[in-house]
Amino acid sequence: MTHDPVTLTVQPYAPHHRPLLHFAPAKNWINDPNGLIFLNGEYHLFFQHNPHGTDWGHMSWGHAVSKDLLHWEELPVALEEDDQAMIFSGCCVLDAENTSGLGTPLHPPLIALYTGHHRNEIQSQQLAYSLDQGRTWTKYGIVLTENIPDFRDPKVFWHPETQQWVMALVLASEHQVVLYGSADLLSWHKLSTFGPAGHTGGIWEVPELLRLSDDSGQEHWVLKVDLNPGGPHGGSGCQYFVGHFDGQAFAATQEAKWLDHGKDFYAAITFANTADRTVWLAWMNNWQYARDHIHSTYSGHMSLPREIHLEQTESGLVLVQRPVRELDGVWSQLQTLQQVQLNALDQVELLHLPAAALDAQLSFSATPHSVYGLSLHCDGQLEWTLEFQPDQETTVLTRRGQVWQEGFQGKHAAPLAAKGLLDVRLILDHSALEVFVDSGKQVFTEAFFPAEGLVSLFLYVKSGSVKCQIEGARGPAVKPET
Ligand code: FRU
Repeated sequence: MTHDPVTLTVQPYAPHHRPLLHFAPAKNWINDPNGLIFLNGEYHLFFQHNPHGTDWGHMSWGHAVSKDLLHWEELPVALEEDDQAMIFSGCCVLDAENTSGLGTPLHPPLIALYTGHHRNEIQSQQLAYSLDQGRTWTKYGIVLTENIPDFRDPKVFWHPETQQWVMALVLASEHQVVLYGSADLLSWHKLSTFGPAGHTGGIWEVPELLRLSDDSGQEHWVLKVDLNPGGPHGGSGCQYFVGHFDGQAFAATQEAKWLDHGKDFYAAITFANTADRTVWLAWMNNWQYARDHIHSTYSGHMSLPREIHLEQTESGLVLVQRPVRELDGVWSQLQTLQQVQLNALDQVELLHLPAAALDAQLSFSATPHSVYGLSLHCDGQLEWTLEFQPDQETTVLTRRGQVWQEGFQGKHAAPLAAKGLLDVRLILDHSALEVFVDSGKQVFTEAFFPAEGLVSLFLYVKSGSVKCQIEGARGPAVKPET
């Protein structure tokens, strides 16, 4: 495809692109979510942040808190780069038993483990702790170093069976995840190494080893690891392996699968300390073009938080993602058509909105071989289409829009989730598009930067015949005209 940048005028992260429910910083650059944890009724979101500009640099941990995972209050920067190192990605744990001795049993410390990126490119794992709910932090220093570069992104959990903390981190350019164990979070010993395996078309980053249940309640272990480049549509991507973990080593029992079929879901990690569910979120961006999007007051936003679990399917266990249940309560019902039936070459406007903010649940039942899809127009311009092509066994998300950046526009295809009957939850939040197909078994996550103006969602049919049921549509309350 060729594009003429001169005719494309919309600048990413313009004021009308600011999402309502997806976290975006007040100003400046963000990338990976870090240190996600639920503590005393508050969700903490730390994030890779440049406090001094809209491009990557001076990496520090920004900080925001929320009671419902959707409305965030940004707090002062939590961990700032210093003369020694920039603060790269990492995690937080609550040291409830005070194994580190850095708090007291009555006031257990909140512990951050992160990568210090030193001037000479060496990366070491460092610890900081907070005794006041993450508001202020004391840097403790290095707890693990191999004196090598490209050794980063620790994610830690408590493993009760072996009574130890377990840390997963990457040897990025070796395509390996290394596991370390510790009794006290301060001294670490190597347990095992996993990889190279699965997709290795780029460096590995931001791993997480986690336990997830399937739909019958059986527990499995999942190792998630991102890569850049080498993603399914160029640039960044994320893959996961399902397998076993015995307290020492992870062994995959399935081939690697892609986690998301859009281009913008990177560096997901879960919230620690959420007792009854597993929730994660990711940076909604792709290193292929993220640093070209820096001409606004801020750059980057997160995905919605998603509850995740495994489900048994024809192609083995699949990681299923659904938006957190808190989302069901925030927006109000929109008046819409309830059901439409279309034949070849028809199209109908399903919804007409003042801005790209929508949470809609749709189901489609189509005659065999029907090719049909949804398209979104903002201010009369086609922004994206999502098309189901049963004969090609694919679903294709085509991102168009008025933004030009290498790799941004294009067709992003995934295997067709189901034939005949299909359910789709579509979430639009100004510059965020999240599509959950087949009850979350397949997800497309992409940022888009629409023209400002009225928004129309169309259903179109290229061949065959399609019935579409609109099960529900919600959106922000519209201010009455004055
Ligand atoms: C992933 C990543 C991490 C690193 C951080 C630096 O996006 O490259 O591997 O810790 O971002 O900002």
